[in-house]
Amino acid sequence: MGITADLVIHGGLLVTADAVIAASVAVKDGIVRAVGAAETMPPTRESLDASGMHILPGAIDVHVHFRDPGYPHKEDWQSGTAAAAFGGVTTVFDMPNTIPPTGTAEALAAKHRIASAKAHVDFGLYGLLGDDTIEHVPALVGGGIIGFKLYMGNTFGKIPTPSTGAMLEAFEVVAPTGKRISLHAETNSIMERRESRMRAAGRTDPLAHLAARPAVVAIEAVSRAAAIAEWTGARIHILHISSAEELRPLRDAKARGVDITGETCPQYLFLSTDDYDRLTGIIRVNPPVREPRNQEPLWAALADNTIDLVATDHAPHAIDEKTRNDIWTVDCGFPGVESQMPLMLTEVNAGRASICDYVRWSAVNPAKVWGLYPRKGAIAPGSDVDIAIIDLGRKWVLDDAKLQSRSRITPWNGRKVVGQPVHTLVRGRFVMRDRALIAETRGWGRSIHSIQAMPEPKPRNIDQSMSRILQSPSARSPVNETA
Ligand code: DOR
Ligand code: ZN
Repeated sequence: MGITADLVIHGGLLVTADAVIAASVAVKDGIVRAVGAAETMPPTRESLDASGMHILPGAIDVHVHFRDPGYPHKEDWQSGTAAAAFGGVTTVFDMPNTIPPTGTAEALAAKHRIASAKAHVDFGLYGLLGDDTIEHVPALVGGGIIGFKLYMGNTFGKIPTPSTGAMLEAFEVVAPTGKRISLHAETNSIMERRESRMRAAGRTDPLAHLAARPAVVAIEAVSRAAAIAEWTGARIHILHISSAEELRPLRDAKARGVDITGETCPQYLFLSTDDYDRLTGIIRVNPPVREPRNQEPLWAALADNTIDLVATDHAPHAIDEKTRNDIWTVDCGFPGVESQMPLMLTEVNAGRASICDYVRWSAVNPAKVWGLYPRKGAIAPGSDVDIAIIDLGRKWVLDDAKLQSRSRITPWNGRKVVGQPVHTLVRGRFVMRDRALIAETRGWGRSIHSIQAMPEPKPRNIDQSMSRILQSPSARSPVNETA
């Protein structure tokens, strides 16, 4: 082919969504140039022997909170993306509940500057969608977001929950942009009422947190969001699916042709009410970890594509913020970007899913859902060299003290796992090699919004939208523009 590669990875087993094949991978200028038999590889400046290893597209974690700017004692873009590198995660999408929230063009530009200076891995930034940011939608889209985040329920950072009226208007405005709206789908008014009644009654135990947020909050929120997405043609993504029950409105909406996708997280697949006594405040997360009976339906929903992908809701907090006695004063969430891959690979080793399934949930589907495939989420000629090289059989123990994250308190401490990321490459560069961070790659990560190519938007009921009904009758188009 006439080129000299920068790197050839040979001897490993390449994993796609469909197959595991013995293949070498040639890298040039951060792009995959060739995949195939060793003897077909070009000459190269450097070789990596991946014998005994699996070569996976790096995970794309579409749900992390890196806290920067705003809460540097919990995490920043350097520590968060170092954790990602150790977790085999090559792209992260960061949530807008920072200080200031990412709801204006200025806040977005500031976060882009910070992340570009510190990130070891690639990233997308979410713009905040709420009552007072609807007017900023064009500026946020123009400023380079990966999508929007809307909080139907309150959580860390106390981002106000938009009314259903504001939500409808927000969906109307976002629909023609084609951007996907990721939803924290828990209904705030139900949770607020139950929490205040329980607090008044003196309940402060960990399970009170779950009692304040029964699955009906998710059933109601997913159903309502799906109805508004269907009406407006806005694309939506249901974050952190925690219950068996909310799968029904998700399945129904998919069957009706709504552009709706969903994720679950390791905490809902691996933890249950059986773990509250042991973990107390550490397990407090929104949505809450639920009864054991939810786990099998969530796994089944991943297997049948009702749930599209696995993300983490990486939500770092300091140790003292997680160990208070009164559950209502404990900050919600815990880090996950570093432990997702070993936890899931452990299940692959146990035979619950194939390694191809795992690649579909962790890399291929996230890339497809946000218009990044096959530049991201694939190892094929022309793709970015975003790769996790893993030792699938490696037995080890997750240890909070060894985390890259600034938050060294998780429910996973002491858990035995099988499968470990050994090297992580982002656009052809090692960011983690032999379980060591490559410190010089700080600032190597880039915002990937510019490579995002979403399908043609299909807004609906435009003639009944807020912007249209506010026009004078003579200015209104008489045609019904429903798609
Ligand atoms: O537990 C959570 N923590 N759930 C969320 O939705 C937000 C997150 C955070 O930012 O801490
Ligand atoms: Zn979150």
